[in-house]
Amino acid sequence: MNDVHLIDHPLVQHKLTLMRKKEASTNSFRRLLNELSMLMAYEVTRDMAMQDVEIETPLEKMTARVIDGKKLVFVSILRAGTGILDGMLSVVPGARVGHIGLYRDPKTLTAVEYYFKMPHNMQDRDVVVVDPMLATGNSAIAAVERLKELSPKSIKFVCLLTCPEGIRAFHGSHPDVPIYTAAIDRELNDHGYILPGLGDAGDRIFGTK
Ligand code: URA
Repeated sequence: MNDVHLIDHPLVQHKLTLMRKKEASTNSFRRLLNELSMLMAYEVTRDMAMQDVEIETPLEKMTARVIDGKKLVFVSILRAGTGILDGMLSVVPGARVGHIGLYRDPKTLTAVEYYFKMPHNMQDRDVVVVDPMLATGNSAIAAVERLKELSPKSIKFVCLLTCPEGIRAFHGSHPDVPIYTAAIDRELNDHGYILPGLGDAGDRIFGTK
């Protein structure tokens, strides 16, 4: 499959299994998502550009390498994307944050935008869009379309779970945007839920069901 990065590290897979269980409490679901997000941040930043800085160790001067975290923007698709932000920011604390508010029209399953707030100078920044579930792909496609209007340097998409339908739809619209995911599940059902999946990610993060 083209530019889909399956994060199959044992720690990621183990935590994802615990999250899928229907008896996982809101508290443990949220904690596991936080831990998983740190591990996914590690993968998605693997090829980030670095710069040299002059530093002094207790013994001598040296040229060492650092990431310019301020060039990186995590863009959360509200509301479930928020569950991924904290974990990612704890690994890259200098990153900026953008928000896109999209809801799924329950009848058409299409994405309707209600909020859009990004840092300035997006054309200088690398963007990582986060949303736990890439299901129909409608929200992710709409979010990336809006972001492309700002011409960022690069865009990556990170989710916890996706399915063949979601990948096909997303890469049908945005073949240039790599997907990072912890699992590719079997299929999408008629209500736009991933099977076997983990249920409604937003409800499970915020305890709203
Ligand atoms: N959104 C969710 O929260 N869960 C799914 O299975 C699909 C979309």
